[in-house]
Amino acid sequence: MKPRHLLTVRDLKPSQIQGLLNSAADLKRNRKEIDPLAGKTLGLLFQKPSVRTRVSFEVGMAQLGGRSLYIGPVELQGGQRESSKDLAQVLSRYLDGIVARTFSHEQAEEMAAWSRIPVINGLSDFAHPCQALSDLFTIQEKFGRLKGVRLAYIGDGNNVCHSLLEASALMGAQLAVATPPGYRPDRSVVQWALAQAKKSGSRILLSMKPKEAVREAQVVYTDVWTSMGQEREQAQRRKDFRGFQVDSSLLKQADKKVIFMHCLPAHRGEEVSNEVMDSRYAIVYDQAENRLHMQKAILLTLMGRRT
Ligand code: CP
Ligand code: NVA
Repeated sequence: MKPRHLLTVRDLKPSQIQGLLNSAADLKRNRKEIDPLAGKTLGLLFQKPSVRTRVSFEVGMAQLGGRSLYIGPVELQGGQRESSKDLAQVLSRYLDGIVARTFSHEQAEEMAAWSRIPVINGLSDFAHPCQALSDLFTIQEKFGRLKGVRLAYIGDGNNVCHSLLEASALMGAQLAVATPPGYRPDRSVVQWALAQAKKSGSRILLSMKPKEAVREAQVVYTDVWTSMGQEREQAQRRKDFRGFQVDSSLLKQADKKVIFMHCLPAHRGEEVSNEVMDSRYAIVYDQAENRLHMQKAILLTLMGRRT
């Protein structure tokens, strides 16, 4: 059974994630039927800015023979211009799929509830599933497996962290998360991940000590301290996250062959030092490239003919 929408990673079963990983690998090797999404149009509804998500979905759609249409903050007015219910029903009459980047996750959920076409979450305040699925693909490429790979996430318990928790717990990777007090990931996500980890053999650990979390880690991952929509908290956050920068001395505590990952955009000098970003450990551009291959797999699964 193929999923109807993709709002969070936990909407998927491990077998469906494995299918997406295989399909992304095939697409990356360029094995595909010609123009499988010919005649289809994908709407990109973005309340917030984006480079990677927008460009990779637009290019992906073009490579699959379809087209895409950008509907930006001016038209959407932060969801205030009209209800998500009306918007979803209108757009279902024109489009074949939607990628929604909303401030609130509830808006994406409401859109999915009323939409007759697939809705893909292109980042909400709660989750970034396309990022985490692409990251699983990157980690599998680098290590040849996901089960038992030791990940550490250092920084804010945000949307990217939530999706990484769900992805790791579903696929049997180990994940240690270190955040300052007050910035832990959402309790419901942690509880879900802990329960899921028991089934998959994953191990989930929460900490407030970056050094503890990165010990023997094979992947060290971070994201910005101030996410889109939190700009007014920036000064406070800079203070609260002191000691949480991923720098060379922190990476020294990790596995010798550690790789550094970041969803980007990075605030160099805040959550990650320039030195680490430019080091041989960083695979952030491979990681960004893989958004394209994984999202093509997602588009084919949700919008293609085959189930
Ligand atoms: N990583 C990511 O989603 O980047 P954008 O915000 O540029 O799309
Ligand atoms: N946590 C960041 C991720 C950007 C891709 C944000 O929400 O702004």
